[in-house]
Amino acid sequence: MTAAVVIKYAIELVAVLLLALGIKGLSKVRSARAANQIAAVALALAVLGVLINFLSTSGIDASAWLWIIGGTVVGGLLGAITSQRVPMTAMPETVALFNGCGGMSSLLVALGVALDPLAGSDGEGTGALVAGISIVVSVFVGAITFSGSVVAMGKLQGWLDTPAWMQSKLRHVINIGLAAFSLVAAIALIASGGDQGLWLLVIGSSLLGIGVTLSIGGADMPVVISLLNSYSGVAAAAAGFVVGSQMLIVAGAMVGAAGLILTQVMCNAMNRSLVNVLFGGALGASASAADQGEYQGITSCSAEECALTLETAQRVVFVPGYGLAVAQAQHILREVAELLEAQGIDVAYAIHPVAGRMPGHMNVLLAEADVPYEQLIEMETINPEFPRTDVVIVLGANDVVNPQARNDSTSPLYGMPVLNVEEATTVFVVKRGLSAGYAGIKNSLFERPNTSMVFGDAKKVLSGLAQELRELGVGKAKVG
Ligand code: TAP
Repeated sequence: MTAAVVIKYAIELVAVLLLALGIKGLSKVRSARAANQIAAVALALAVLGVLINFLSTSGIDASAWLWIIGGTVVGGLLGAITSQRVPMTAMPETVALFNGCGGMSSLLVALGVALDPLAGSDGEGTGALVAGISIVVSVFVGAITFSGSVVAMGKLQGWLDTPAWMQSKLRHVINIGLAAFSLVAAIALIASGGDQGLWLLVIGSSLLGIGVTLSIGGADMPVVISLLNSYSGVAAAAAGFVVGSQMLIVAGAMVGAAGLILTQVMCNAMNRSLVNVLFGGALGASASAADQGEYQGITSCSAEECALTLETAQRVVFVPGYGLAVAQAQHILREVAELLEAQGIDVAYAIHPVAGRMPGHMNVLLAEADVPYEQLIEMETINPEFPRTDVVIVLGANDVVNPQARNDSTSPLYGMPVLNVEEATTVFVVKRGLSAGYAGIKNSLFERPNTSMVFGDAKKVLSGLAQELRELGVGKAKVG
């Protein structure tokens, strides 16, 4: 074993350990930022390990360096510009796109090796069958991840809708047909030991990715995003087998497993099985016309009335939702909360696992405004506390506080655990109008006798509320 290979293994070992540490750290808001940086260092080390290996072998010529350097510069620039410019609200679409890039990379690696077997691990003695299966898995999962992620991004952006024929039973026939087609192409590819059936497999699996994702809709999107994240890990691990890189296998397996655990957590949060999500059809699109019915007996009030109620409260719970992220009202929300706390009012934030548009969206949003982590209370913990809560303020949330998820078996949200905010004494719902949330259905919470709508952009309403509270002298002891 040459010195370069020893160095490469040592670097890869450190990289794997750092990656594991990074993934672990991501599970807590407090450590997430540092963990992300640790994981980035781990990946940079992994790349360094591969480059050192290249330097020590004569298997790569000078022109390849041009591709490596060119790809690094272009990819690095694109990544840097995207991360600078993407708004917080477009983060889920960005995550979907990144998953797609992961799938596409694995697909391209496998394609490169399949079209030029000397480029892969074949030449180093890996069994032909294992090499063939690795290429098939990498192409199949990579293509599904790429096309599925592009569709997911289009749906989250509002560019794509589930077409009517994709909501019918026909979608199962189409998807089973595409899966069978891909299977035949895969068998042909393995049997040929070359590249026969390769392009058919690429086409079949790409169309399958579109078919499977296009038919999933509405409130099930979070599960799809985390599942695609898991797929991108599986595709990377398969690509690791293709090129004989232990680092890629381990890193891909870790991402795959983490994504799968997150998918399970998301499914539990929505009280759905994965099979039901994948084959149950477009939840959002299935909302019937009756669900969109007119609202009756809506009560609305001003920020001033809301402030008067808050002044006498002992316990207040804020429920953040997607609209809070749209309005970028997290900082002013914290200001309002600080005024209340300075008045001796007990303040908490109720966090629904799928509030917003990506896993952990509300935790990240509130962490950005330095809201103390201890005040973010998970759904299971806070639900029993609503009956002893004086005021709940729902901020740009809709589906996650819809009582129909509990009471109406015909609702597309039926069975999804929600925050039982209507059990509080008074509920204020801050939103711009009466339009529906992501699942596209009416919310009976707005018609409840103890609910008052405070219409307006969340940031403007909260600014008004802060001003009213100050005028009332709330929080004067500390802030005024
Ligand atoms: P939604 O149900 O989507 O409701 C958001 C509400 O925010 C809308 O009704 C909208 O009403 C209001 N809004 C928008 N802009 C606003 C602004 N500037 N100021 C005030 N209000 C504003 O959000 P949610 O309750 O957070 O539920 C999340 C939904 O998204 C669930 O169905 C979930 O399954 C789905 N989803 C979640 C994820 C993840 S992973 N979290 C990913 C994709 C989809 P107006 O237009 O009337 O203001």
